[in-house]
Amino acid sequence: MDSYQSLSAKVYNFDKPVGKSFGDLEYYQSRLTNKASAILEPAVGTGRIMIPLLQQGYNIQGFDLSNEMLGYCEENLKSAQLPTNIMQQASFTNFQYNETFDAIIIPSGTFLLMTDYVEIKQALQKFHSALNSNGKLIFDLFFQNDFQLGRTNIKIFTLSDSEKITLTMTEAEIDYANQAATYIHRYEHWKANQLKETELETFRLKWLGIEEIQLLLKEAGFIDITISADYQYKKSITNGTEIFTVEAIKS
Ligand SMILES: C[S@@+](CC[C@H](N)C(=O)[O-])C[C@H]1O[C@@H](n2cnc3c(N)ncnc32)[C@H](O)[C@@H]1O
Repeated sequence: MDSYQSLSAKVYNFDKPVGKSFGDLEYYQSRLTNKASAILEPAVGTGRIMIPLLQQGYNIQGFDLSNEMLGYCEENLKSAQLPTNIMQQASFTNFQYNETFDAIIIPSGTFLLMTDYVEIKQALQKFHSALNSNGKLIFDLFFQNDFQLGRTNIKIFTLSDSEKITLTMTEAEIDYANQAATYIHRYEHWKANQLKETELETFRLKWLGIEEIQLLLKEAGFIDITISADYQYKKSITNGTEIFTVEAIKS
Protein backbone atom coordinates (compact mmCIF):
# COMPACT_ATOMS: atom_id res chain seq x y z
CA MET A 1 0.00 0.00 0.00
CA ASP A 2 1.62 3.30 -1.02
CA SER A 3 -0.88 5.63 0.59
CA TYR A 4 -1.83 6.53 4.17
CA GLN A 5 1.72 6.03 5.42
CA SER A 6 3.47 8.00 8.15
CA LEU A 7 3.16 11.69 7.11
CA SER A 8 -0.07 11.11 5.24
CA ALA A 9 -1.69 9.60 8.34
CA LYS A 10 -0.29 12.42 10.52
CA VAL A 11 -1.82 15.03 8.21
CA TYR A 12 -5.15 13.16 8.05
CA ASN A 13 -5.38 13.01 11.84
CA PHE A 14 -4.39 16.69 12.16
CA ASP A 15 -6.57 18.07 9.36
CA LYS A 16 -9.61 15.81 9.88
CA PRO A 17 -9.68 15.14 13.61
CA VAL A 18 -12.15 12.83 15.33
CA GLY A 19 -15.68 14.16 14.91
CA LYS A 20 -14.85 16.48 11.99
CA SER A 21 -17.83 16.17 9.67
CA PHE A 22 -18.36 16.96 6.01
CA GLY A 23 -22.07 16.34 6.54
CA ASP A 24 -21.33 12.61 6.55
CA LEU A 25 -21.37 12.09 10.34
CA GLU A 26 -24.89 13.51 10.75
CA TYR A 27 -26.14 11.78 7.60
CA TYR A 28 -24.86 8.32 8.55
CA GLN A 29 -26.32 8.81 12.04
CA SER A 30 -29.70 9.61 10.51
CA ARG A 31 -29.56 6.42 8.40
CA LEU A 32 -28.56 4.25 11.40
CA THR A 33 -31.59 4.57 13.59
CA ASN A 34 -31.08 1.52 15.82
CA LYS A 35 -28.05 2.21 18.03
CA ALA A 36 -28.02 -1.37 19.31
CA SER A 37 -27.50 -2.83 15.84
CA ALA A 38 -24.04 -4.15 15.02
CA ILE A 39 -22.16 -1.84 12.62
CA LEU A 40 -18.88 -2.37 10.77
CA GLU A 41 -16.81 0.45 9.29
CA PRO A 42 -14.30 -0.92 6.75
CA ALA A 43 -11.34 1.49 6.24
CA VAL A 44 -12.07 3.09 9.60
CA GLY A 45 -8.91 5.21 9.41
CA THR A 46 -8.21 7.32 12.49
CA GLY A 47 -11.73 6.77 13.87
CA ARG A 48 -12.98 10.19 12.68
CA ILE A 49 -16.52 8.80 12.28
CA MET A 50 -16.40 5.64 14.41
CA ILE A 51 -15.40 7.39 17.66
CA PRO A 52 -18.25 9.96 17.77
CA LEU A 53 -20.69 7.16 16.91
CA LEU A 54 -19.30 5.05 19.79
CA GLN A 55 -19.65 8.06 22.09
CA GLN A 56 -23.30 8.33 21.10
CA GLY A 57 -23.85 4.71 22.10
CA TYR A 58 -23.60 2.99 18.72
CA ASN A 59 -22.27 -0.58 18.61
CA ILE A 60 -19.60 -0.10 15.94
CA GLN A 61 -16.17 -1.56 15.11
CA GLY A 62 -13.77 -1.17 12.22
CA PHE A 63 -10.75 -2.34 10.28
CA ASP A 64 -8.17 -0.64 8.09
CA LEU A 65 -5.22 -1.65 5.94
CA SER A 66 -2.88 1.11 7.11
CA ASN A 67 -1.02 0.48 10.38
CA GLU A 68 -0.24 4.20 10.59
CA MET A 69 -3.95 5.14 10.42
CA LEU A 70 -4.75 2.41 12.95
CA GLY A 71 -2.02 3.80 15.24
CA TYR A 72 -3.88 7.13 15.35
CA CYS A 73 -7.19 5.30 15.77
CA GLU A 74 -5.81 3.50 18.83
CA GLU A 75 -4.49 6.78 20.27
CA ASN A 76 -7.83 8.51 19.64
CA LEU A 77 -9.80 5.63 21.22
CA LYS A 78 -7.55 5.77 24.30
CA SER A 79 -7.96 9.57 24.59
CA ALA A 80 -11.72 9.06 24.48
CA GLN A 81 -11.40 6.29 27.11
CA LEU A 82 -12.89 3.73 24.76
CA PRO A 83 -11.76 0.11 24.29
CA THR A 84 -9.21 -0.47 21.53
CA ASN A 85 -10.14 -4.07 20.75
CA ILE A 86 -12.78 -2.89 18.29
CA MET A 87 -10.27 -2.19 15.50
CA GLN A 88 -8.09 -4.54 13.49
CA GLN A 89 -5.80 -4.55 10.48
CA ALA A 90 -7.43 -6.00 7.37
CA SER A 91 -8.33 -5.14 3.80
CA PHE A 92 -11.69 -4.82 2.03
CA THR A 93 -11.17 -8.29 0.57
CA ASN A 94 -9.64 -10.31 3.43
CA PHE A 95 -11.40 -9.13 6.63
CA GLN A 96 -12.76 -11.87 8.91
CA TYR A 97 -15.22 -11.63 11.80
CA ASN A 98 -16.94 -14.30 13.88
CA GLU A 99 -20.15 -12.28 13.83
CA THR A 100 -22.32 -10.71 11.16
CA PHE A 101 -23.49 -7.09 11.03
CA ASP A 102 -26.71 -5.12 10.62
CA ALA A 103 -24.94 -2.34 8.74
CA ILE A 104 -21.66 -1.71 6.94
CA ILE A 105 -20.70 1.94 6.37
CA ILE A 106 -17.96 3.47 4.19
CA PRO A 107 -18.21 7.27 4.28
CA SER A 108 -16.21 9.91 2.39
CA GLY A 109 -15.44 8.32 -0.97
CA THR A 110 -13.11 5.67 0.48
CA PHE A 111 -14.89 3.02 -1.66
CA LEU A 112 -13.24 4.68 -4.70
CA LEU A 113 -9.79 3.63 -3.47
CA MET A 114 -10.68 0.25 -4.98
CA THR A 115 -9.61 0.84 -8.56
CA ASP A 116 -10.12 -2.54 -10.19
CA TYR A 117 -13.28 -4.51 -10.77
CA VAL A 118 -11.95 -7.77 -9.34
CA GLU A 119 -11.32 -6.04 -6.01
CA ILE A 120 -14.67 -4.21 -6.07
CA LYS A 121 -16.59 -7.41 -6.83
CA GLN A 122 -14.72 -9.39 -4.14
CA ALA A 123 -15.29 -6.61 -1.59
CA LEU A 124 -19.02 -6.40 -2.39
CA GLN A 125 -19.28 -10.17 -1.94
CA LYS A 126 -17.43 -9.94 1.39
CA PHE A 127 -19.73 -7.10 2.54
CA HIS A 128 -22.78 -9.14 1.47
CA SER A 129 -21.61 -12.23 3.43
CA ALA A 130 -20.74 -10.12 6.47
CA LEU A 131 -24.26 -8.66 6.68
CA ASN A 132 -27.31 -10.15 8.38
CA SER A 133 -30.33 -10.67 6.22
CA ASN A 134 -31.93 -7.23 5.54
CA GLY A 135 -28.63 -5.62 6.64
CA LYS A 136 -27.67 -2.28 5.02
CA LEU A 137 -24.57 -1.36 3.06
CA ILE A 138 -24.08 2.44 2.92
CA PHE A 139 -21.20 4.17 1.15
CA ASP A 140 -20.31 7.48 -0.50
CA LEU A 141 -19.11 8.02 -4.06
CA PHE A 142 -18.17 11.05 -6.13
CA PHE A 143 -17.22 11.76 -9.73
CA GLN A 144 -13.78 13.01 -10.83
CA ASN A 145 -15.24 15.78 -12.98
CA ASP A 146 -12.77 18.54 -12.11
CA PHE A 147 -9.52 16.79 -13.09
CA GLN A 148 -6.83 18.95 -14.79
CA LEU A 149 -3.72 17.09 -15.84
CA GLY A 150 -0.58 18.67 -14.31
CA ARG A 151 -2.44 21.03 -11.96
CA THR A 152 -0.67 21.36 -8.62
CA ASN A 153 -1.98 22.53 -5.28
CA ILE A 154 0.02 23.19 -2.14
CA LYS A 155 -1.29 23.01 1.42
CA ILE A 156 0.56 23.90 4.61
CA PHE A 157 -0.31 22.27 7.93
CA THR A 158 1.15 24.22 10.87
CA LEU A 159 1.59 21.69 13.66
CA SER A 160 3.29 24.17 16.04
CA ASP A 161 5.35 27.41 15.92
CA SER A 162 8.39 25.47 14.73
CA GLU A 163 6.87 22.47 12.96
CA LYS A 164 4.90 22.20 9.74
CA ILE A 165 4.09 19.74 6.98
CA THR A 166 3.74 20.93 3.40
CA LEU A 167 1.73 18.85 0.94
CA THR A 168 2.12 19.27 -2.82
CA MET A 169 -0.67 17.55 -4.74
CA THR A 170 -0.28 17.02 -8.48
CA GLU A 171 -2.99 15.70 -10.78
CA ALA A 172 -0.75 13.20 -12.54
CA GLU A 173 -2.71 10.87 -14.81
CA ILE A 174 -6.22 10.31 -16.06
CA ASP A 175 -7.17 6.84 -17.30
CA TYR A 176 -10.57 7.03 -19.00
CA ALA A 177 -10.52 3.37 -20.06
CA ASN A 178 -10.30 2.23 -16.44
CA GLN A 179 -12.11 5.23 -14.95
CA ALA A 180 -9.29 6.22 -12.62
CA ALA A 181 -7.41 9.41 -11.78
CA THR A 182 -3.93 9.39 -10.25
CA TYR A 183 -2.68 12.09 -7.92
CA ILE A 184 0.89 12.35 -6.62
CA HIS A 185 1.16 13.70 -3.09
CA ARG A 186 4.54 14.88 -1.80
CA TYR A 187 4.70 15.45 1.94
CA GLU A 188 7.56 17.43 3.50
CA HIS A 189 7.99 17.63 7.26
CA TRP A 190 9.79 20.78 8.47
CA LYS A 191 11.17 21.47 11.94
CA ALA A 192 12.76 24.89 12.63
CA ASN A 193 12.85 25.43 8.85
CA GLN A 194 14.90 22.25 8.31
CA LEU A 195 13.48 19.50 6.11
CA LYS A 196 13.34 16.39 8.30
CA GLU A 197 11.38 13.86 6.27
CA THR A 198 9.66 13.48 2.92
CA GLU A 199 7.06 10.99 1.74
CA LEU A 200 5.57 10.29 -1.65
CA GLU A 201 2.02 9.01 -1.96
CA THR A 202 0.43 7.72 -5.13
CA PHE A 203 -3.26 8.20 -4.80
CA ARG A 204 -5.42 6.43 -7.37
CA LEU A 205 -9.16 7.04 -7.31
CA LYS A 206 -11.80 5.41 -9.45
CA TRP A 207 -15.13 6.82 -10.50
CA LEU A 208 -18.24 4.73 -11.04
CA GLY A 209 -21.43 5.47 -12.95
CA ILE A 210 -24.80 5.24 -11.25
CA GLU A 211 -26.01 2.35 -13.42
CA GLU A 212 -22.66 0.65 -13.03
CA ILE A 213 -22.70 0.62 -9.23
CA GLN A 214 -26.31 -0.55 -9.22
CA LEU A 215 -25.42 -3.46 -11.53
CA LEU A 216 -22.42 -4.39 -9.36
CA LEU A 217 -24.57 -4.31 -6.21
CA LYS A 218 -27.32 -6.43 -7.80
CA GLU A 219 -24.73 -8.93 -9.02
CA ALA A 220 -23.46 -9.24 -5.43
CA GLY A 221 -27.00 -9.94 -4.17
CA PHE A 222 -28.15 -6.51 -2.97
CA ILE A 223 -31.65 -5.12 -3.50
CA ASP A 224 -33.60 -1.90 -2.78
CA ILE A 225 -30.77 0.37 -3.91
CA THR A 226 -31.21 4.09 -3.25
CA ILE A 227 -28.97 6.99 -4.25
CA SER A 228 -28.94 10.28 -2.32
CA ALA A 229 -27.04 13.42 -3.32
CA ASP A 230 -25.26 15.83 -0.94
CA TYR A 231 -26.25 13.94 2.22
CA GLN A 232 -29.98 14.49 1.67
CA TYR A 233 -31.90 11.23 1.54
CA LYS A 234 -33.03 10.39 -2.02
CA LYS A 235 -32.10 13.86 -3.34
CA SER A 236 -31.44 13.47 -7.10
CA ILE A 237 -27.97 13.74 -8.56
CA THR A 238 -27.24 16.73 -10.82
CA ASN A 239 -24.04 17.92 -12.53
CA GLY A 240 -23.44 20.06 -9.45
CA THR A 241 -23.55 17.11 -7.03
CA GLU A 242 -20.30 16.83 -5.09
CA ILE A 243 -20.90 13.58 -3.25
CA PHE A 244 -23.63 10.97 -3.22
CA THR A 245 -24.49 8.11 -0.96
CA VAL A 246 -25.50 4.64 -2.09
CA GLU A 247 -27.58 2.45 0.18
CA ALA A 248 -28.42 -1.19 -0.54
CA ILE A 249 -30.04 -4.01 1.38
CA LYS A 250 -28.87 -7.61 1.62
CA SER A 251 -31.65 -9.76 0.15
C1 LIG B 1 -10.17 8.75 3.34
S1 LIG B 1 -9.59 7.63 4.61
C2 LIG B 1 -11.12 7.39 5.46
C3 LIG B 1 -10.99 7.06 6.91
C4 LIG B 1 -12.31 7.09 7.68
N1 LIG B 1 -13.25 6.11 7.19
C5 LIG B 1 -12.92 8.47 7.64
O1 LIG B 1 -13.99 8.62 7.01
O2 LIG B 1 -12.33 9.40 8.19
C6 LIG B 1 -9.41 6.13 3.68
C7 LIG B 1 -8.95 4.94 4.50
O3 LIG B 1 -9.03 3.77 3.67
C8 LIG B 1 -8.01 2.88 4.05
N2 LIG B 1 -7.85 1.89 2.99
C9 LIG B 1 -7.41 2.10 1.74
N3 LIG B 1 -7.43 0.96 1.03
C10 LIG B 1 -7.92 0.01 1.86
C11 LIG B 1 -8.20 -1.38 1.71
N4 LIG B 1 -7.98 -2.01 0.54
N5 LIG B 1 -8.69 -2.06 2.75
C12 LIG B 1 -8.92 -1.43 3.94
N6 LIG B 1 -8.67 -0.11 4.14
C13 LIG B 1 -8.19 0.59 3.11
C14 LIG B 1 -6.83 3.81 4.25
O4 LIG B 1 -5.80 3.21 5.00
C15 LIG B 1 -7.49 4.99 4.96
O5 LIG B 1 -7.44 4.85 6.35
